[in-house]
Amino acid sequence: MSLYRTMLFTPADDLRKAGKALMLDVDGVVLDLEDAVALSKKLNARTALKEVLSLPRKGDVFIRVNSAQTEFILGDLLAAVTQGVKGIVLAKSESAEEVRQVDWLIGKIEIERGLRPGGLELIPFIESANAIINVYSIASACPRVSRMFFGGVDYVLDIGTSFSRNSEEIFYARSKLVVASRAAGIEAPIDTVYPDFKDIGGLKEDAKVVRQLGFQGKLAIHPCQVGPLNEVFMPTADEISWAKRVVTVFDEAEAKGQAVMQVDGKMIEYPIADRARRILSLADIITGKK
Ligand code: COA
Ligand code: MG
Repeated sequence: MSLYRTMLFTPADDLRKAGKALMLDVDGVVLDLEDAVALSKKLNARTALKEVLSLPRKGDVFIRVNSAQTEFILGDLLAAVTQGVKGIVLAKSESAEEVRQVDWLIGKIEIERGLRPGGLELIPFIESANAIINVYSIASACPRVSRMFFGGVDYVLDIGTSFSRNSEEIFYARSKLVVASRAAGIEAPIDTVYPDFKDIGGLKEDAKVVRQLGFQGKLAIHPCQVGPLNEVFMPTADEISWAKRVVTVFDEAEAKGQAVMQVDGKMIEYPIADRARRILSLADIITGKK
């Protein structure tokens, strides 16, 4: 299990922002070659990316490449598949076939560069109606697919609507991503950006909703979103103390041949004990990151 509570986007050709992003306490940074880079700057961005990748960093680095349907894909991958990069985010992933083509290309570049074959992760960005229809086959396209991102901004445009405060229009897509990820045996997905970066209250509310839906984290676009998101996606002190009590009580009872019992007037059985263990594992991962 790996944990990305927050992944911060930054344009790959903006040295100032990228340099800052790489030194923040954020689980992952996504250097963007796609929509954060103007069409006229696409080729220059690959040169800038090389410089950015030589900067000091604290967390994992991912690179978002342009869609497999664009003329940029090969050049982007040649720039992005390098030592020290954790994974490639494939913008506007539409089908399993496309994901496997990109997987194949990454594999060839890894061999050419003496990198461990299969070492880089591939993260499909799910951001269209087509992608939602194909999401389970995309999730299970190849072993390199470790998790998926949800891109709500492009998705609402594609289905002919816009974001609303209660996000009803993206509920189906979000839930489908969670279920498809689980069924394919990959990590829980990471949710869409919250564009209104000054609205921290709204961001936290939205993050709580997706945490409850089963997402493991959320994409960020501005440093001010990182702290609040990290906080929402980590277990609270109360959850940790509850989990410790549950595991202790359950293990003692189970050793005596008992599978159901109560803690604070609530029934505890195997799935609840498993959930408590999961909370403790997440807490351990987060402690390890500090
Ligand atoms: N990563 C790192 N640093 C960032 C940042 C980011 N994503 N966004 C802003 N900052 C920095 C700025 O450089 C600035 O620092 P400085 O004053 O030392 O230069 C500070 O945070 C405050 O920035 P602010 O003035 O509030 O915002 P801005 O106008 O500079 O930038 C955006 C606003 C939206 C353009 C910017 O946040 C951004 O580029 N976000 C990422 C966009 C992206 O990658 N989109 C693709 C995926 S949807
Ligand atoms: Mg997009």
